[in-house]
Amino acid sequence: MLDHLTVVDHPLVQHKLSIMRDKNTSTAGFRRLLREISLLLAYEVTRELPMTEVDIETPLQTMKAPTIDGKKLALVSILRAGNGLLDGILELIPAARVGFIGLYRDPETLQPVQYYCKLPDQLEDRITIVVDPMLATGNSSAAAISLLKQSGAKNIRFLCLLAAPEGIKRMEEAHPDVPIVTAAVDSHLNDHGYIVPGLGDAGDRMFGTK
Ligand code: URA
Repeated sequence: MLDHLTVVDHPLVQHKLSIMRDKNTSTAGFRRLLREISLLLAYEVTRELPMTEVDIETPLQTMKAPTIDGKKLALVSILRAGNGLLDGILELIPAARVGFIGLYRDPETLQPVQYYCKLPDQLEDRITIVVDPMLATGNSSAAAISLLKQSGAKNIRFLCLLAAPEGIKRMEEAHPDVPIVTAAVDSHLNDHGYIVPGLGDAGDRMFGTK
């Protein structure tokens, strides 16, 4: 089992993250780095996938060769920033099934409201990796994971780029069974729910919006 929280402190990840945090990094640069970093994070989040052996024939002899066991993975992107992580991960795991969950924050209640949901079938038999670059309050992530559980998912992992202690706590309370993999845990959330020091709005920085 993965630990409840894994911080990927690999030098390449930390170096790329520092450039992404810099407000002077361009949209194109941010996007390219997010894709690169997502490959390295995907390596960690898939570290303990169950394995099996198949019989193959090399040019020299037959052998039992290790392969990933079970149904194709499900990747679920929380719109819209999740798509920045998704693209890179799909390069490593091209056969994965992909789902999308769209949530917005109700201005009155501040609670997440679902506006879009399209998920792969047979989630109960797949390992599901939920991707969202910023684990801030944790409300959207916790709501998305509740939705996945209602849809049958049993074996879920959460992958993000940056996490706030508040979001980690919220996830631990709501979904203690879901391991979190992140590149860094920052100091705190500000009054607007932004991660500090953070990198700003991940969606805006990757899509060049304001
Ligand atoms: N979402 C973001 O994009 N950035 C934050 O700092 C918090 C939530």
